[in-house]
Amino acid sequence: MYCNQHLPNVITILKTLHEKTNVCLCVCVFGVEPPPEGSGWSQLELAAVILVPSCLVCVGVILGMCAVQNLRCNHIKAHKQDPEEPLDDQTLVSPDKCLKELIYDMSTSGSGSGLPLLVQRTIARTIVLQESIGKGRFGEVWRGKWRGEDVAVKIFSSRDERSWFREAEIYQTIMLRHENILGPTSLSFESRENNGSWTQLWLVSEYHEHGSLFDYLNRYTVSVEGMIVLALSIASGIAHLHMEIIGTQGKPAIAHRDVKSKNILVKKNGTAVIADLGLAVKHDSNTNTIDIPINHRVGTKRYMAPEILDDSINMSSFESFKRADIYSLGLVFWELARRCSVQGIYEDFQLPYYDQVQSDPSVDDMRKVVCEQKLRPNIPNQWQSCEALRVMGKIMRECWYANPAARLTALRVKKTVSQTMVDVRQRNVVCKSKLVFLAKLCADCGFLALFFLQF
Ligand SMILES: Nc1ncnc2c1ncn2[C@@H]1O[C@H](COP(=O)(O)OP(=O)(O)OP(=O)(O)O)[C@@H](O)[C@H]1O
Ligand SMILES: [Mg+2]
Repeated sequence: MYCNQHLPNVITILKTLHEKTNVCLCVCVFGVEPPPEGSGWSQLELAAVILVPSCLVCVGVILGMCAVQNLRCNHIKAHKQDPEEPLDDQTLVSPDKCLKELIYDMSTSGSGSGLPLLVQRTIARTIVLQESIGKGRFGEVWRGKWRGEDVAVKIFSSRDERSWFREAEIYQTIMLRHENILGPTSLSFESRENNGSWTQLWLVSEYHEHGSLFDYLNRYTVSVEGMIVLALSIASGIAHLHMEIIGTQGKPAIAHRDVKSKNILVKKNGTAVIADLGLAVKHDSNTNTIDIPINHRVGTKRYMAPEILDDSINMSSFESFKRADIYSLGLVFWELARRCSVQGIYEDFQLPYYDQVQSDPSVDDMRKVVCEQKLRPNIPNQWQSCEALRVMGKIMRECWYANPAARLTALRVKKTVSQTMVDVRQRNVVCKSKLVFLAKLCADCGFLALFFLQF
C-alpha cells in the first residue's frame, strides 16, 4: 500500500464513496509514483487514481459473472429436451409414487386445483394405451400402463369438453376422496399436429379389472354376503356424495344424477366404487344455490325418477336431486339382488323395466310406464324366504315411492344394509359353529360305535 501525506485525503474519498454507493471499495494503489515535492495532487487527480482501478476491477468482476452465467445457460440448453419428446417423468413426478398417491397428493394439497399442468402432461405422455375397454356416450375408455401399473383412461371427444371439465371439476372437490368413490385425476394433454396443436382431454383413474357392476352381474352371480358387501359399498359411496361436511376440510353435498349399474365399478375385493360424475350437481349451503352444470347432458332415461320423466321436479331444491338418485339406487339394488344365489336359485341379469320397454327407451316410453301405469320392477316371492333379500326388497320399495319426500335417504339405506351385514355375518358364525358341533358329534358317535363294535 502506498502511503504518503495524501493518505488522509484518500481515506476521506473512500469513505464518501462508500457512504454514497454503499459499496466497499478496498483499493490498493501500487506503484504510483509520489508526486514531486510541493506539487501536491488535487482532489480530482486523487479521485481518478482511486476510481479508475476500482472501476476496472468492478468491470472485470461483472464480466466474469456474465461469463459464468452464459456457461450455465449453454449447459441447460444442451440438456433441455425437445418439447415433443416425452419428458423424463422422474424429473417432475416423484419416481416412487403410484398414481393413487399422486391423486392423494392432489386432493390433499388443499387447492383443489389439481396436478400442475406440466405434471399432468408428463403423466399423460408416459401412459401407454393398451386396449379399448368400453365406449360410452362421451368418450372411450382404455386400459393403459403407467410405470407398470394398470390405469383406466377415459378419452373425451373434443365436442364433449364440457363433460370432461365438469367431471374433472367435481373430482377435484376437496374431501371427495372416499373408498367407495372412484378417485381419478383429470389430464389435459396437448398434442401437436402438422398444422397446429389440439388438446386431448383425459380422465385417468384406477383400473378395476372387473369393470362395471353391469359387466360383473352379467358374468357372475353373488352370494348373500357378496350382495350385501356390494350394496353397502354402493350406499356408502352415495351417502358420502350426498353428505355435506362443514369446516375448512369439508365438502359440499353432491348429487350424482346418473346412478346406474354401468357407472359403478367393482373392485377386486368385492366392494364397489361410484364413477362417472360428469352430471353431478353441487350444493352451496351458504347461499342455498346449486351449481347446475352448463351441460346439456341428461341422465340415463331408464333410471330416471318419475319426477324427472314428467318434469315435475323442483329444480331449485337440492334435496330433489338427492331423492332422484335414491330412486335410481333402488333400481341398481334390484339388478344386484336378482343375481344373488340362494341355494343355487337366482335370476338372469336384466336391466330395470326390461319387460316393459325396448332397449334405448325414450323419455316418453319411460314416463308411460313409471308415471302413468305406476309400474316398478317385480320383486320375486322367493326373496321373502331369505332375510337379506327380504330386506333388500323392502329397501327398493322405499326408494321407489312416487312421492320423492317419502323415499329413504342414502344414510338410512346405508344403516339398514349395514345392520343386515351384521345379521348375515352372525348367522354365518352360528351356522358354522352348528356345523362344527355336528361334525364333532358325528366323530364322537363314530368313536362310540367303534368302541361298542369291539365288544
Ligand atoms: N376405471 C375403470 N376401470 C375399469 N373399467 C372401466 C373403468 N371406467 C370405465 N370402465 C369400463 O368402460 C366402460 C365405459 O365407460 P363409460 O363411462 O365411458 O360409459 P358407460 O358408463 O358404459 O356409458 P355412459 O357413461 O355413456 O352412460 C364401462 O362400462 C366399464 O366397463
Ligand atoms: Mg359411465
